[in-house]
Amino acid sequence: MKRILVLGGYSGIAQKVEEKWARQGASLYLVGRSQAKLEIVRNHLLVLGAKEVYIESADLNNLNAHKSILQRAVASLNGLDLLFVCYGILPDQKMLEKEPEKIVENYNTNAISVIHFVTTSVNYFESRNAGTIAVVTSVAGERGRKSNYFYGSAKACVDVYLEGLRHRLFHSGLKVITIKPGVVDTPMTKELGKKILIASPERVAEDIIRGIENGKHIIYTPWYWKYIMGVIKLLPERLFSKLEI
Ligand SMILES: NC(=O)c1ccc[n+]([C@@H]2O[C@H](COP(=O)([O-])OP(=O)(O)OC[C@H]3O[C@@H](n4cnc5c(N)ncnc54)[C@H](OP(=O)(O)O)[C@@H]3O)[C@@H](O)[C@H]2O)c1
Repeated sequence: MKRILVLGGYSGIAQKVEEKWARQGASLYLVGRSQAKLEIVRNHLLVLGAKEVYIESADLNNLNAHKSILQRAVASLNGLDLLFVCYGILPDQKMLEKEPEKIVENYNTNAISVIHFVTTSVNYFESRNAGTIAVVTSVAGERGRKSNYFYGSAKACVDVYLEGLRHRLFHSGLKVITIKPGVVDTPMTKELGKKILIASPERVAEDIIRGIENGKHIIYTPWYWKYIMGVIKLLPERLFSKLEI
C-alpha cells in the first residue's frame, strides 16, 4: 500500500486526491501551514479508510526545514513511495505590476520552494532507485498572458525544471510527473467567479489519480486543456497579443 507525502495537505485539489488515496488505505503525511486545518483533514481521511495520517505544520517557503520534513515523513511512514506537491498562491497580477517588491513571494512559493523540496527528495528516492514525484503546476505556465504572467512564469520555471529532471532520471526507477490543471473550483479561484471551463476538484483528482497510476509524464486536467493549450501555443505572437485572455 502506498506511503505518500503531500505538500499542501489541505489545498482544495489535494484534499480530493487524498480522499481517494484514503479509500485505498494509503498512509499519508500531510504538510501545510495551519495545524487546525490539517487536523480536520486528518480526521476526515481516517474515517474514509486511510491506514495512518501524520500531519506537520510548516511554511514551505522556509527552505531550511525541507530536509527535516522529508526525514520525518520517511521515518513516520517507514519509507516513501510518492511525493505529491500541491501548494501555491495566485498573486494579484495588477498589484505585482505596481509593487515589484512583492514579486518575491510569488516566485519563492510557486517556484523556488517547490524546486528546492523536489531536489531534496530526489536525493532520497535516488538512493532507493524507486519512487514517484508528482507536482501540480498549471496550464498558465505554457504561455505568458497579460492577466497572470507572474504566476504563469513561476509555473513555467517548475515545468522546465521537471522536464529536465525527468530527462535526467529517464533510465532510473524514479518517475517524475507534471500535472497541469486548467481552472479548478478551489479557494484559490474564488475571486475569479464561475468560468465556463471551470472544473470541479473531484474531477481533477480523478485525472490525477489515474494519470499517476498509468505512469503518465504530463497530466492535463481536464484532458481538453492539452488541446486548448496546443492551439494557444501555435498562435503567432502578433495575433496572440491582440487576444483579451
Ligand atoms: N485552482 C486552480 O484553478 C488551479 C489551476 C492550476 C493549478 N493550480 C495549482 O494547484 C495547486 C493547489 O491549489 P488549489 O487550487 O488547491 O488552491 P488552494 O486550495 O488555495 O490551495 C493552495 C494551498 O497552498 C498552501 N500554501 C501556500 N503557500 C504556502 C506555503 N508557503 N507553505 C505551505 N503551504 C502553502 C495554502 O495554505 P494556506 O491556506 O495556509 O495559505 C493552500 O492550502 C497550486 O499549486 C495551484 O497553483 C490550481
